[in-house]
Amino acid sequence: MRIGVLTSGGDCPGLNAVIRSVVHRAVTAHGDEVIGFRDGWRGLLAGDWTKLDLDAVSGILARGGTILGSSRVQPAQLRDGVDRAREHTAALGLDAIVPVGGEGTLKAARLLSNAGLPIVGVPKTTDNDIAATDVTFGFDTAVTVATEALDRLKTTAESHQRVLIVEVMGRHTGWIALHAGMAAGAHAIVVPERPFDIDELTTVVGRRFESGKRFAIVVVAEGAKPREGSMAFDGGGADIYGHERFAGIARQLADELEHRLGKEARPVILGHVQRGGTPTAYDRVLATRFGWHAVEAAHRGDFGMMTALRGTEIMMAPLADAIRSLKGVSAGRYAELSTVV
Ligand code: F6P
Repeated sequence: MRIGVLTSGGDCPGLNAVIRSVVHRAVTAHGDEVIGFRDGWRGLLAGDWTKLDLDAVSGILARGGTILGSSRVQPAQLRDGVDRAREHTAALGLDAIVPVGGEGTLKAARLLSNAGLPIVGVPKTTDNDIAATDVTFGFDTAVTVATEALDRLKTTAESHQRVLIVEVMGRHTGWIALHAGMAAGAHAIVVPERPFDIDELTTVVGRRFESGKRFAIVVVAEGAKPREGSMAFDGGGADIYGHERFAGIARQLADELEHRLGKEARPVILGHVQRGGTPTAYDRVLATRFGWHAVEAAHRGDFGMMTALRGTEIMMAPLADAIRSLKGVSAGRYAELSTVV
């Protein structure tokens, strides 16, 4: 069999572990040949690829990023490129293509699968918002990095009697905010699934100072928004891929809370540090298992599917399920926090 792999969309720790695992399983168990497309779908559309043998993936398990590179391709470009993708697949003699990516990548994967290409998807996203799998790799690393940052920020916030508003990743969902905030004992956690009321948030943070505490940590997911009409808010607009271009909720919240509480409030934006660097052991294991199962699925002819973690087992889920809806923080999970806003 000849298998093509690509990594697309925002990068995330564990991508190299998937690439390595695909090559190891395909080459050693099946005698397959593997190639990697450079920079995601762009590589497939342009016929830009490199051979992936055991040497090529040696030493990459713990490396962050992706040795293949990544890019974003606009949906219209991809729709126009279906014929080219089909031509390159045939010309390269590919029996399977394994795209590794998040929501946008899996939508593209579904489009190409519907056009007849032999696709086996692997989901990734630091945001952990893909509904068809319990967990995506990259999430554990992001939570670990954010938790460590929050632990550090607490000590400096306390020294200076500040309110620190810490913005973490999470375009549509607040999983990183919820988990890192819970792990670090944040005093308020604000998520996109639950538009916040600035009066309530002010009360929660204010109560902490009234009780004699001299600092507060608020964790906010980048996609969080105030309840309609409750506070002036700059939404930021959209980029060329249709993704929201956030205008900085932490900065806006810090200004508002400082004004309302009369306490110094500073924004801290963790940004891409959350998805850079080496993956945690959990993410390496999940990514490695996904790669292994993707190869097995290709050999069974399970196309139009993607790997998914359900409980402790890896299953195959239809790509259609992956893109149907996002997995948000449920009211039940949010209610488990003691200080909710
Ligand atoms: O989709 C994952 C994610 O980490 C989002 O939380 C974030 O908004 C986005 O990627 C940012 O990616 P980039 O800066 O590469 O556009």
